[in-house]
Amino acid sequence: MLERLESLRADALQRVADATGMEELRAVERDFLGKEGALAEILAAIPTLPAEERRDTGRGANELKGDILEAIGARKSSLEESEVARLRDAGGFDPTLPPAAPQRGGLHPITQVRREVESIFSSMGYEVLDGPEVELDYYNFQALNIPKDHPSREVQDTFYCDEAHTLVMRTQTSPVQIRAMERLSPPFRLIAPGRVFRNEEQDATHEHTFHQVEGLVVGEDIQVGHLTWTLRRLLNELFERELEVRLRPGYFPFVEPGFEFDVRCPFCEEGCRVCSNTTWIEFCGCGMVHPSVLAAGFEGRDDVDVDSLTGFAFGFGLDRLVMMRFGVDDIRNLMGGDLRFLEQFPC
Ligand code: PHE
Repeated sequence: MLERLESLRADALQRVADATGMEELRAVERDFLGKEGALAEILAAIPTLPAEERRDTGRGANELKGDILEAIGARKSSLEESEVARLRDAGGFDPTLPPAAPQRGGLHPITQVRREVESIFSSMGYEVLDGPEVELDYYNFQALNIPKDHPSREVQDTFYCDEAHTLVMRTQTSPVQIRAMERLSPPFRLIAPGRVFRNEEQDATHEHTFHQVEGLVVGEDIQVGHLTWTLRRLLNELFERELEVRLRPGYFPFVEPGFEFDVRCPFCEEGCRVCSNTTWIEFCGCGMVHPSVLAAGFEGRDDVDVDSLTGFAFGFGLDRLVMMRFGVDDIRNLMGGDLRFLEQFPC
């Protein structure tokens, strides 16, 4: 029986050495070590052997099993290595290269600047509010004291959502002023950043979809000085230095008096592309909340004495701020969705 084991060993090891693939190695394992393999036959025959041969046969069979498994393992590794070498030499594929880094997303530049603005106002005790992008004509126009014949209602400016023109894509964030007055109790301060829509010809400075940040403060004894201080504070934080500002008269139906708020160009002294060679940048529209707007917003509120209240409001374009901050010269890039553009503003 021991001779039989030796000849099995020679056969098995030879077949392992000759194997050129995993399939052949599995066949060796099956033929020699499987349930009906050569070794199983020998083990089954042990009880029929003369007593003095049994122990050595059992031990020999076990040893052989271990040796065959070991030989198979070693052959398997070397076959795998040569397979890798073959693939590598076949060209194009190098399994030793590190895997491609996963692509990381980032915040859109508009989101980055919006968050910065939100954090500046939050530090001054402002709430950050949201409002619907599809808005009732009432909130977008009527309650804001925009008379029926006002040019901003005309079809070429406003996207209407229904035949009756009661639903519009909001053309400004100012409707949030009214929604806020309906729900909050003065005094309060808030900003409302968001998307707005206008049916305009598109060019480097005009988009049909853009972003505004509305601001509203309502309380007793709120004055123009509070408004200018607040906007200066915002600009100083954004541009990290004191910038000259000026107020010019401006007309918006929902403020009285109304102003255009300009800031000295942060990028030049004599005039440049950003300020169209004027050294001033028109930053936003603003003013003291019109009494009719306060009346509409707080209508039916027994807990609010409208006559004792004043307030200021402002609305600025976020896209313009992003363009100034990052030196972008065409607004259409912002919402264009081109990754080659967006990847330039990692955060
Ligand atoms: N809503 C105005 C606009 O879109 C901006 C503005 C807001 C002006 C608040 C005055 C007060 O142009």
